[in-house]
Amino acid sequence: MNVQLNNPIFEKLGMTYPIIQGGMAWAGTGHLAGSVSEAGGLGIIGTGYWHADQVRAEIKRAREVTDRPFGVNVMLMSRHIREVFDVIIEEGVKVVATGAGDPSPYLDELHEHGITVMPVVPSVGLAQMMEKKGVDAVIAEGSESGGHIGSLATMTLVPQVVDAVNIPVIAAGGIADGRGAAAAVMLGASGIQMGTRFLASEESEIHQNFKDAVLKARDIDTVVTGELMGNRARVLKTKMAKKYIKNERVEVTKPKPDAAAVEKLENGSLRRAVVDGDKENGAFMAGQIAGMVNDIEPVSEILENTWSQASELLNKTWRTK
Ligand SMILES: Cc1cc2nc3c(=O)[nH]c(=O)nc-3n(C[C@H](O)[C@H](O)[C@H](O)COP(=O)(O)O)c2cc1C
Repeated sequence: MNVQLNNPIFEKLGMTYPIIQGGMAWAGTGHLAGSVSEAGGLGIIGTGYWHADQVRAEIKRAREVTDRPFGVNVMLMSRHIREVFDVIIEEGVKVVATGAGDPSPYLDELHEHGITVMPVVPSVGLAQMMEKKGVDAVIAEGSESGGHIGSLATMTLVPQVVDAVNIPVIAAGGIADGRGAAAAVMLGASGIQMGTRFLASEESEIHQNFKDAVLKARDIDTVVTGELMGNRARVLKTKMAKKYIKNERVEVTKPKPDAAAVEKLENGSLRRAVVDGDKENGAFMAGQIAGMVNDIEPVSEILENTWSQASELLNKTWRTK
């Protein structure tokens, strides 16, 4: 019997599995997110720096594969953020996840429209601040994750956040099977979020070069870029990533780039990996768990295999208590 976690948000959304497909700029398309929701998890469309029309188009694509609720992940630093929120509200999206930043200026408005808000947090302090401002849950994301990261690992971050807040805590970072999912539950999480595992799914629309790179990656094949610029992101160790890290030492002495320059760099390099599969110039964001992701599966199997394995482990542990 699969274990049911006590998570009122997941119950309200009618999810079969307590598993979220984390929002991934460019990679978290409407098709992937819709497929995850249709299979009983919660899919989240990653919107990055997209403008409103692109966001609306991907919401429509999600609706082509599911009538179930799905979420949209927004980049609060985006210059298009106001119009993106307008689309989310107009389209009746049920869940908003936020990456870096503080979503509280938009919170009342989102809540008025019945939207559940879940920010990603890399620390206890930010989790407490978010709870005080009234968010519905937090996603505690460890530094094993693909994409932008903080500095604490999932193992240390999750139990400390769980102890510090009274809202549901979703664990993210380094989870790709039932063992990781069960471990996160043992740490006190009432849900898990995976990104890298879903990159290697049948419904993932990333370029084949990107999928192949995830499948080929070993445990030590990711690096962190942006360390010196205060904008850390975990990517696969490609030629571009190594060059980027080398250049940072020079770049950091220059004046800080403005928002438009950061958008051009980040939006461009991730798009080149996801859409073009450009091995020379793309940023192949992926987590350390890529070393354990060795096959492409349909999202329905990823969800069922992960949660049935976790349930078996949790049932065994709880029975012996
Ligand atoms: C290609 C890629 C892009 C990502 N983009 C975003 C993003 O736009 N916003 C965000 O909050 N998280 C982003 N993430 C993080 C994921 O939502 C998720 O939390 C993370 O992948 C979980 O760790 P894992 O990769 O070890 O499963 C991204 C991750 C990847 C791999």
